Amino acid sequence: MNHLIAPSLLSADFLTLEKDIDMVNASEADWFHLDVMDGMFVPNISFGFPVIEKIAQIARKPLDVHLMIVDPDRYIERYKKAGATIISVHYEACDHLHRTIHAIQDLGCKAGVVLNPHTSVPLLEDIIRDVDLILIMSVNPGFGGQKFIEHSILKIERLKALISATGSHALIEVDGGVDLENAPRLLKAGADVLVAGSTIFSSSDPAGTIRKLKNI
Ligand code: DX5
Ligand code: ZN
Repeated sequence: MNHLIAPSLLSADFLTLEKDIDMVNASEADWFHLDVMDGMFVPNISFGFPVIEKIAQIARKPLDVHLMIVDPDRYIERYKKAGATIISVHYEACDHLHRTIHAIQDLGCKAGVVLNPHTSVPLLEDIIRDVDLILIMSVNPGFGGQKFIEHSILKIERLKALISATGSHALIEVDGGVDLENAPRLLKAGADVLVAGSTIFSSSDPAGTIRKLKNI
């Protein structure tokens, strides 16, 4: 499978969001990555349902919703209604991860599990066959524009091995500090989906940067 690119709208210009959504629609990007933060699970607050519903009205690519919120079970149905295609929850935020994953899938969404930088890949052993996607955080979640944590490469390699060993169909997504320098190494390690925020939206040619990331 060719790898996928998921621009993170956290780094878009919210004053002219439609323009950035149109750019992503017309680009070689595959998904929209939407970062939901509640100020509790992470020390930042981003956007909620009204914004996602508006994005869904004009987005012509799947919405990949990354929930950085406490007790995400409370809201998964609303994210589905708001237009989510993929809903990912943090391993660290779920007491009953198996139930949460299946609740997301029962709604008709793809279900992802996100690992913070300190959370070990082997902890996924008993859930890996149930999930559609594993998101490896390569920064501590909460903010765009942070420095990539190199250890993430090793985690992707370990995850790739676990997926192969178990026959899981899960995709490997990487999020945080992804740029044109580390992207080839992430793909070589086994990543299937690259999330990029500031690398795309801070560049002078965002669509061109998406094309470069896609054509590695
Ligand atoms: C961080 C978010 C990321 C963020 C990535 O908590 O999960 O999706 O937007 O931004 P960059 O690519 O700038 O690190
Ligand atoms: Zn994210």
